[in-house]
Amino acid sequence: MKLITDLYLGDCRNELKKVPDNSIDLIVTSPPYADQRKSTYGGVSVSEYVQWFLPISKELFRVLKPTGTFILNIKEKVVDGERSTYVMELILGMRKQGWFWTEEFIWHKKNCYPGKWSNRFRDAWERLLQFNKDKKFNMYQDAVKVPIGDWAKNRLKNLSETDKKRDNAKNGSGFGKNISNWVGKDTVYPTNVVYLSTECNNKNHSAAFPRELPEWFIRLFTQENDTVLDPFMGSGTTIEVANRMKRNSVGIEIVPEYYETVRQQFSLTEYYLMDSAIEDGELESTGCYRVC
Ligand SMILES: C[S@@+](CC[C@H](N)C(=O)[O-])C[C@H]1O[C@@H](n2cnc3c(N)ncnc32)[C@H](O)[C@@H]1O
Repeated sequence: MKLITDLYLGDCRNELKKVPDNSIDLIVTSPPYADQRKSTYGGVSVSEYVQWFLPISKELFRVLKPTGTFILNIKEKVVDGERSTYVMELILGMRKQGWFWTEEFIWHKKNCYPGKWSNRFRDAWERLLQFNKDKKFNMYQDAVKVPIGDWAKNRLKNLSETDKKRDNAKNGSGFGKNISNWVGKDTVYPTNVVYLSTECNNKNHSAAFPRELPEWFIRLFTQENDTVLDPFMGSGTTIEVANRMKRNSVGIEIVPEYYETVRQQFSLTEYYLMDSAIEDGELESTGCYRVC
């Protein structure tokens, strides 16, 4: 099957309107955080952030399939010595739009430099918020299993009677485990903490994703020939990874230089570049390219 990559130049508030209803399996994106990186690609103030984002999340809700997932990478900064609450307000606003806030993954940045602040420690993690349209969604958990680890060799060698049945925690937490379930297993399901290094220096963008980040979510929530969207494409990491993983993709970017870099990257592959407007039989100045 032919893979399709649609690249749009423009503001995603407008460009998303061109994406059909219920056509996307996974959205992975990192919008500009409030008031950050103003010098490179604008920046929305903390007080206006929710108001700015909600029309975008409304469009994302429309284009996402009922079985699809939206992963939003975001992290509130410190304003006047206090963490800003705009991300929490955004979550509440999106729930009112109909989104389920299914999960919060933590991206632990493994390669964070140490630092010294008078009233806090260095930020070494970011939020990866998972939203869904429905409580039932596609999830391919086996695709992200991890090695069980060396601990299992000794621990599982001699099982006690307690290990062979479900053992509920004595502290009343409601957690329980049956250790014997792990015997003979080489892999287990991961936690909701994703350990990845940042990867900024090898790309022409100041906030590029490490490739493993979209890759992990693409494996977890999609299959080959599904469609992945990044409405804040930047250097195109999500799109590039989706393409490599044989997923269709849609990318939107407002800064022409970033957009052009991604477009050229695709035109250099074995795919050929085709203006989607030509395919439609009429020339539009949408800036929308289709790489087939
Ligand atoms: C945090 S960066 C995303 C980086 C991306 N994940 C990557 O791996 O390169 C956010 C991007 O969103 C773009 N952007 C900002 N406002 C936008 C808008 N309204 N519509 C589309 N893109 C926008 C910025 O130019 C920037 O490249």
